[in-house]
Amino acid sequence: MEQYLIGQFEWFHRHPELSYEEVDTTAKIRELLTEAGIEILPYPLATGLVAAVRGSKEAVDGTEHTIALRCDIDALPIVEETGISYASECKGKMHACGHDLHITAGIGAAILLQECREELCGTVKFIFQPGEEDARGALKILETDVMDDVERIWGFHADPTNEVGVIGIREGYVTAAVDRFAIRVKGIGCHGAHPDDGIDPIPVAAAIVQGLHSIIGRNINAFHPALLSVTRIQAGATWNVIPAAAELEGTVRTMQREDRALYQRRVRETVEGTAAAYGATAEITWIESAPATYNDGKMAQLCEKIAQSQGMKTVPEEQSLGGDDFSYYMEEERIGRQVPGCYLKIGTGVAHPIHHPAFCVDENVILPAAKYLAKVLAEDLDNMLNE
Ligand code: NI
Repeated sequence: MEQYLIGQFEWFHRHPELSYEEVDTTAKIRELLTEAGIEILPYPLATGLVAAVRGSKEAVDGTEHTIALRCDIDALPIVEETGISYASECKGKMHACGHDLHITAGIGAAILLQECREELCGTVKFIFQPGEEDARGALKILETDVMDDVERIWGFHADPTNEVGVIGIREGYVTAAVDRFAIRVKGIGCHGAHPDDGIDPIPVAAAIVQGLHSIIGRNINAFHPALLSVTRIQAGATWNVIPAAAELEGTVRTMQREDRALYQRRVRETVEGTAAAYGATAEITWIESAPATYNDGKMAQLCEKIAQSQGMKTVPEEQSLGGDDFSYYMEEERIGRQVPGCYLKIGTGVAHPIHHPAFCVDENVILPAAKYLAKVLAEDLDNMLNE
């Protein structure tokens, strides 16, 4: 099993595909799961797929439970610099976020559960999701009715800050809600020597940046993690002309739902109020991306328990103001009901950070990761019977 999984992992690593281009990756996943006798569900997905392992043990009370594991499958536009023997064969593309491990560990867990399905009571759906790096691939999966019967959702990520055998886990918020904004300040262009003939948008943009940065210190609860970054500012084309407009772009990251709404309101008030004070006007475009990921307490406890039973060590999972579209599977407004979820980190050997051209996964983690996930999923289904 270990050699088999390592071989598949190396294949996936050699054949990285970018978001929504995961055609060969999907075909390979389909082939391996089909070989193992695992059912592929007939969802109309361009890339990515959903498989199901159905336990054959009958529940005493006749109830059927279904849970899911999300494994993301896409790679990044990075030129690989690992120097490993199974490096990317696709120039300029690389599995630099460990999604090759996610695929392989997911397949391994599915095979292990399929082999012992007589002892399994309920169904596990394995969601091989495209486009995670684009932060919207989960929405492609959610266009299908895959979540209709899913009661709990599991997700995981490679973690190069921890050794193999270490599981990072935390109850509560682990990734942030991701919002993006763009601002266009409209003034009146004129000669650089006669600013009184126009309305200079540049000091307006500068004042807006200052104002936006004060929201965190003055409006957001100091105990709540949150941030705003202005990442682009553009205006003008030369030294003696005052331009007619200035553009700003940036991102807001929050954990708490109320902070997300508060930020959106305060950014709007700050931008419009500041522009008005200078006699200019401003337009804001606000794009909401994935919400924050909140780890269910009971599920987090199960992760710890299984880690101990497998001789693994657990550490507090690092919270991040980065986002993961895994959170869409738990978004109550979207799913229509509460779906508890848990997103854990699997130590892949201390190495370069994810998205680095030399990021590398220690292959010794592959089989333990598959076994660990299989055990977590099986025990989660077991626990649901007793709830
Ligand atoms: Ni990733």
